[in-house]
Amino acid sequence: MRDTQTGTSLNSVNSRRSVPRAGLLRSAAVVGIGLLIAGCAQDAPQDTWDPAGSNAQEIQDLQWWIFALAGIIGVIVMVVIAWVVFRYKDRGQAIPEQSHGNPKLEIGLTILPALILIGISVPTVGTLMALNETNDTECIVNVTGQQWWWEYDYPVQDGCLPGGITEPIVTSGQMVIPADMNVLIRGTSRDVIHSFWIPRLNGKRDMVPGRIHTLRMQAEEPGIYAGQCAEFCGLSHANMRMEVAALTPEGFATWVERQTSDYVAPEAGTLAAEGEATFLANCARCHQIDGLLNSDGTPNVARPDENVYSGAAPNLSHLMSRNTFAGATWDLLIPSQRDVVWNADPEDFTDLYLQGVTDEFFNEVDLREWLRNSPAKKPMYADPLKLEATDGLYRGMPYLALSEEQIDQLLAYLLERN
Ligand code: CUA
Repeated sequence: MRDTQTGTSLNSVNSRRSVPRAGLLRSAAVVGIGLLIAGCAQDAPQDTWDPAGSNAQEIQDLQWWIFALAGIIGVIVMVVIAWVVFRYKDRGQAIPEQSHGNPKLEIGLTILPALILIGISVPTVGTLMALNETNDTECIVNVTGQQWWWEYDYPVQDGCLPGGITEPIVTSGQMVIPADMNVLIRGTSRDVIHSFWIPRLNGKRDMVPGRIHTLRMQAEEPGIYAGQCAEFCGLSHANMRMEVAALTPEGFATWVERQTSDYVAPEAGTLAAEGEATFLANCARCHQIDGLLNSDGTPNVARPDENVYSGAAPNLSHLMSRNTFAGATWDLLIPSQRDVVWNADPEDFTDLYLQGVTDEFFNEVDLREWLRNSPAKKPMYADPLKLEATDGLYRGMPYLALSEEQIDQLLAYLLERN
């Protein structure tokens, strides 16, 4: 009897001691993780608290005070809970008189949160409606998501430039826009639901097959702004990135001119010329390069719809005008030059970006690995035999079993696509 009692009291002493200790550890862990996150946020290219355009600024104007209000309420609730826990802690006192109901308090505690929610919802709905406005846009970019990259195409239009865009442009990975202009994004998807999000420029917009969702994008100053697909979309969802490069109006005009410039065939007898033949034999079925001719002199027309589930593959006409490849996941620029471009002052950014990828700054390593075995670099359901659901079509780039010699040729050829 006594033994049991002693045992019980020992246990309760132990548990009383271990509970606060575990609580303390947990609190320390929460504070530690919080500090870590705060530390990471200092150099975060996808920081929604660091708006770089008018739309993101509207979100910021709304979220900071809601965040502060929610924080204050959170602190009050925690303080009250802590007070109740300590005040009414079991110290062996007699059970107090039991009562039920307190209409005044209950009504008060129903009305107060309702008022707070109304106070939050009115400006929230107002901001949502303001962000949905698109009638003040001056430039159209169509955005199409697919597993696992983004395509941007610029239709023929009067907008974007004083003289408009007179020839369609198709690019991927990096969307180029004029700075300080409201751009209308018309987005959709070719396979599953994706979500387009450049946190420093605007909120998320889901991109849904069979629907066109619009979004307004504006960047105050020239610069580059990162984002990533924000809706789980399969195996390489985490490798589906995107970037927006905002250029000065003159720089944007130069970019358009280069994107619509004619195909330049490699000089006969060079490694790049061998690369052109290798490209035609291995890549041109899916990847379009505008102006590329078949060996019989007819224009090569890629037919990705016959090979890829989404029915599209990135257009590589001016690959080296972009800084990234494979869903903006790997850099075409060597790391030192990438840092220069990403950290450039707004007044220097446009020229640096328009340099594109030159011989000197070409990150050959990642592109070589990619050509060697792309499914090993980016998970992509590359084996069509395992994919009855897609009628044997690939979800991404398959393993091509290229020789090192063929890869050398392709790199030389692609490096000239600027
Ligand atoms: Cu596309 Cu996640």
